[in-house]
Amino acid sequence: MTPVVEIRNVAQFEGQDVFIQGWLYNLRESGKILFPLLRDGTGILQGVVVKSAVPAQVFEAVRALTQESSLRARGKVRKEKRAPGGYELDVAEVEVLQNVSSERPYPITPKEHGVEFLMDHRHLWLRSVRQRAILGVRHEIIRACRDFFDDRGFTLVDTPILTPSACEGTTTLFEVEYFDQKAYLTQSGQLYNEAAAMAVGKTYCFGPTFRAEKSKTRRHLTEFWMVEPEVAFAQLDDIMALAEGLVAFVVARALERRREELKTLERDLSKLEKCAPPFPRLAYDDAVNLLKEKGSEIAWGSDFGGTDETILSESFDRPILVHRYPSHVKAFYMQPDPERPEVALCVDMLAPEGYGEIIGGGERAADERLLLRRMDEQKLPREAFEWYLDLRRYGSVPHAGFGMGVERVVAWICGLDHVRETIPFPRMLNRLTP
Ligand code: 4AD
Ligand code: MG
Repeated sequence: MTPVVEIRNVAQFEGQDVFIQGWLYNLRESGKILFPLLRDGTGILQGVVVKSAVPAQVFEAVRALTQESSLRARGKVRKEKRAPGGYELDVAEVEVLQNVSSERPYPITPKEHGVEFLMDHRHLWLRSVRQRAILGVRHEIIRACRDFFDDRGFTLVDTPILTPSACEGTTTLFEVEYFDQKAYLTQSGQLYNEAAAMAVGKTYCFGPTFRAEKSKTRRHLTEFWMVEPEVAFAQLDDIMALAEGLVAFVVARALERRREELKTLERDLSKLEKCAPPFPRLAYDDAVNLLKEKGSEIAWGSDFGGTDETILSESFDRPILVHRYPSHVKAFYMQPDPERPEVALCVDMLAPEGYGEIIGGGERAADERLLLRRMDEQKLPREAFEWYLDLRRYGSVPHAGFGMGVERVVAWICGLDHVRETIPFPRMLNRLTP
């Protein structure tokens, strides 16, 4: 029996007859020899079809193949230094599953296409070498996050996507009809994480989150994935150390297991290799001073704009932890610093090379009265938060957590200039398809 082999494993089958099933990536013809490039999702393999060595119909079938036609090829694996990947397939036989009609050829050709065109064809664009590399890195980053928390005693507790209330401010809520009432797509699993942390001590959730962001920037999606740990009894310093540990782990894992993909993306690996702890910690006050020195117009009390984040994150060669922002620019649940109540015990991590915020989190207000006051200030409907207030009534303890946006981390690690390529099917202000 001839085995069906994945291209990534062909080296183990040198000298053997195998089946490769995949798609035609490209076809080169040189006199009486055809060189079909086959891709199967695991790699690319060059086939060689010599006219004099195969039946005429095999040669003609290969010659008639159009880009992205699907096929099954049988042939012998041969070591070939000059071929991409180091091996070739001496094709003996092909079965064409579907030949793409030349009247309606595959729309993405090797020539340059505009980004909007590629985005409209995202369902096909994913097949490119570059997009497959990004998908691979994304998968590894997600797996690394899970391994990090799973190996440290965290319990995964899934949080709901349909929710009765806001978590991160009411201006970016997606409203949906929920029978005879209104529901909102979750902005963050945090509030439920806090309930789970009181049940299991250390928890995390990992799922899609939604923001009706009207911003059209290279950092914003309306649907993105977030991994969010929450730890009972943890304080700001603990959670900063956890965030630092997670990011260092994820970067090291990508370098270890996805070096090939990162090279395909032409990522400067030396920049990632520098991202080892300790990461600099910087109070918001000092960050503002640094920004002013660098020419920013920022005044104490305002949140950083995209440009400020870029300046800050270009000033260091590794991620930085900016802590203690003014309370009024942060969400209602933030714990004020007891020594300086005008600032919150919160932290943002900014990635280097201008990538900006990848993590936001901090200590949660543990006192019911304080929470109620903050909710009133932000005009949040108390009823929807009664269950959340219960967490402060029944054994309230200090606790802290954070959320890390997967797409921003993928953009940074892959060295991409926009988050739209970091998620298989991006959702943005002006894009809901494919
Ligand atoms: O800073 P954010 O809004 O924090 C929270 O949602 C907290 N409740 C998380 C927590 O403490 N459990 O969002 C956290 C991270 C950001 O640092 C960023 O990486 C990502 O989520 N993020 C986005 N990513 C892509 N597109 C957007 N529109 C994003 N908004 C936030
Ligand atoms: Mg934030």
